[in-house]
Amino acid sequence: MNHQHAVIFDDVSETPKTKLNVEGELPAWLSGDLIRNGPGLFNFSGVKLNHWFDGMAVIHKFSFGENQVYYQSKFLQSRAYISAIREHKIVSSEFATSPKQSFIRHIYDILKGVLTDNNNVNIVKFGKYYLTMTETDNHVLVDPETLSIVRPHTYDDKIKFIINLAHPIIEEGGNLFYNLGIKFGSTSRYILYRTNVSTNNREVIAKIPTKRPSYMHTFAKTENFFILYENPLKVNPLKMLFSDKPFIKNYIWGDDPVNFIIVDKAGKIIRQFTHEQFFCFHMVNAYEYASKIYLDLIVYPNADIIKAFYLEPRVNLEDKNLVPLLRRFVLNLSDGSCSSYKPDVPGIEFPYINGAYAQKLYNFIYAVSSRNNDFSLNTLIKINLSDLNANRLWQQDDCFPGEPVFVAKPDATMEDEGVIISVIADLKNKLSFLLILDAESFNEITRINLPHLLPIGLHGSFYSDVIPANTRVWKAGI
Ligand SMILES: [Fe+2]
Repeated sequence: MNHQHAVIFDDVSETPKTKLNVEGELPAWLSGDLIRNGPGLFNFSGVKLNHWFDGMAVIHKFSFGENQVYYQSKFLQSRAYISAIREHKIVSSEFATSPKQSFIRHIYDILKGVLTDNNNVNIVKFGKYYLTMTETDNHVLVDPETLSIVRPHTYDDKIKFIINLAHPIIEEGGNLFYNLGIKFGSTSRYILYRTNVSTNNREVIAKIPTKRPSYMHTFAKTENFFILYENPLKVNPLKMLFSDKPFIKNYIWGDDPVNFIIVDKAGKIIRQFTHEQFFCFHMVNAYEYASKIYLDLIVYPNADIIKAFYLEPRVNLEDKNLVPLLRRFVLNLSDGSCSSYKPDVPGIEFPYINGAYAQKLYNFIYAVSSRNNDFSLNTLIKINLSDLNANRLWQQDDCFPGEPVFVAKPDATMEDEGVIISVIADLKNKLSFLLILDAESFNEITRINLPHLLPIGLHGSFYSDVIPANTRVWKAGI
């Protein structure tokens, strides 16, 4: 097992609310909660999970204020988790692990949408609760103080998806949610919808038919348009119905190019663009300028990156196809042309931006990067898009950073005025620490040790006590 795998497959234990030892000086304005989600349990009696994205969800909360930090963590008490712990079995298909169940039960589960509620991908504020998400339609609300489940987040509408993305696009200070559901059938549909924290209904914006739904992890939005990117990793829903393979194994990398679908706010498809093949988990940002859409994605030449995250990797981890590359796509709405180029930066994943600059011309990307431009993500990077020579790095031997969360200073006037918070797994010292960097200089402000080593996890957000919710627009995902 390489070092990165040792970090992502680390089993964690729950931690009651614990005061951490802060030795340095935190910015006086840094007050609020960093909430994070990710897989944190892989090994338990009778169950063998195959893949990073199968691990049982654990929620981490870090509360900042008055130069103090409290930490607590709790496993999401999902049906999936409780069955795993009490009955030593998984009850519904995880990303890459199937339950042992009868064929009839399998059909029933898919038709009825009885899919996993192991929401280990993302967590965002939703009204007075936190909303936990994975890529099924079983999003769950948890209490912000206890991190216990309040209730499943059900809707009064009759819409039922198989897939519901874990990266909603959030606007209006955290009140308006856009998201993409996928319905499977003889004709499947991508369904763009919006909802509000004060309602239990989803308003459908667009229904886009497709024969073979693509695996989608994120979608993008600009001021006036939604952008879906259909990559060549696609599923035949009817075959999936009669297959006993785990979820993701039903998706096949085919010959199709990538198809960008541009939808306006009224739900009308106004353009489609094709581009040579790539695979993408994460969007960085998208904006409109002079009748063009500028779309920054983290792309791979193919979907082998999914095979790299098996507990026993199914690809050579030295393969350069596993290096995530920043690529800018320029979609010309006037003449229908589509071009792209790769800024000269090392591989990056888990991108984060100042949420105030989402859907706007922006300059700074914070991300996890690779010291040797390979599969191992062992560095934090600040990319200055207007001057790549001014990029900044943070790295330390045997340290693996999690997603760098940007927190804006309350009275900030500059895009990079604030701090970066990242949970760093320090394998040498066998513990994790919170790293606080000045976002402008990328210099270390302080680090705060955690009680134990944490897996690096997936996604999270910071919610300030001082300013309106610093919600990330695409985000927050695997
Ligand atoms: Fe993600």
